[in-house]
Amino acid sequence: MQTKKIIVLISGDGSNLQALIEKLHLPKENIGASEIVLVISNNADAYGLTRAKDAQIKHLVISSDTDISPLEYDALLTVQIEKLQPDLILLAGFMRILGKPFVRQYGHKMLNIHPSLLPKYQGINTHQRAIDNAEKEHGASVHFVTPEIDNGPVVLQAKVPIFDDDNVAELSARVHTQEHLIYPLSAQWFLSGRLKLNAGNAELDGKCLAKDGYAPD
Ligand code: GRF
Repeated sequence: MQTKKIIVLISGDGSNLQALIEKLHLPKENIGASEIVLVISNNADAYGLTRAKDAQIKHLVISSDTDISPLEYDALLTVQIEKLQPDLILLAGFMRILGKPFVRQYGHKMLNIHPSLLPKYQGINTHQRAIDNAEKEHGASVHFVTPEIDNGPVVLQAKVPIFDDDNVAELSARVHTQEHLIYPLSAQWFLSGRLKLNAGNAELDGKCLAKDGYAPD
């Protein structure tokens, strides 16, 4: 079987990228091998670039610190994607909104990880908002990317408790730990052909997943 190719898009620390490197950037002789062929950051200071460099993964910056239009930005991403023809595109803390044409083109093979139990807390500052609302549980969701932000079909969620005295840093660390498990697992499902987007639904092993993904409890 051919090695599956992955492109990862980041903006920051890249702890999810690290988990993906450890679980999916595998030597070619492995059965079902996959390789992260490129890491793209929109932020030149992203620590994730150092992680890519340390793992000897090709990486580049397509800066959004310019007056380039959203469509032009997506076109630059498209050039890289078309060059490498990846099997899977993973958004891992990529803090840019992708345009509708781009998402329509690649949405069938593009996943995102979001730090909340979607559909709750789409958008930013999810941990603070969950604490402010006195939620008892919170978590992370892996989902297919659709033109509506943080709204695509959910693949897998992980729940964590919120304790009374939690602050954002503690809660974020707890969520990150779970993210590092569910994101590589979801990607593996996709790469092995078990997970697909079919007629707008996430399907695992040919079965349509529930709206909160696979076995969330
Ligand atoms: C994660 O919490 C992810 O859910 C969100 O952005 C954060 C990225 O963290 N989309 P990291 O850069 O992978 O550490």
